[in-house]
Amino acid sequence: MDVKRLHLEGEFVESNLGTVLGDDGKVVVRLVAQQYSFEPQCIVVPAEMPVTFRATATDAIHGFVVGKTNANTMLIPGFVATFTTSFKTAGEQLMPCHEYCGTGHEAMWARVQVLEPQEFLAKAKGGERMSCVPR
Ligand code: CUA
Repeated sequence: MDVKRLHLEGEFVESNLGTVLGDDGKVVVRLVAQQYSFEPQCIVVPAEMPVTFRATATDAIHGFVVGKTNANTMLIPGFVATFTTSFKTAGEQLMPCHEYCGTGHEAMWARVQVLEPQEFLAKAKGGERMSCVPR
C-alpha cells in the first residue's frame, strides 16, 4: 500500500471511509489515522452486532482504543489493521489514540456513537458510508 496515494485510490479513499452495512449484512468501519486526527472524527456503529474495523495510518504509528471495550489496535503506515468486535450497549464512547505519535498525540481522538441496532439499521439503508461528522 502506497501511503502517499491512500486518499486517492483503493479501499481507504475518503469516499469509502466510515461505516457501511454490506449486502451480506456485515457492518464494516473503515478509518484512517494521521497526525493528529482520525477520519472520520465520529464513527457510528450498532450495539449487539458484529462490527469489523479496517484501519490504517498515513504518517506515523498510531493506535486506538474505544472506551473500555476490547476494541483496541495499533495502526502502522502501509498495513491494514482489522478486527471484529461487538458493543454491548448504546451510547457514546471516546476513542483516543494510544500510541505516542508526536506533539499532538494527547489531542488525537475520535468519538464513537453506538446506536441501538434498530436505529442503526434504519440509518444504514442504501449502503451509504455513514459517520457522525457534519460534512
Ligand atoms: Cu496518534 Cu498518538
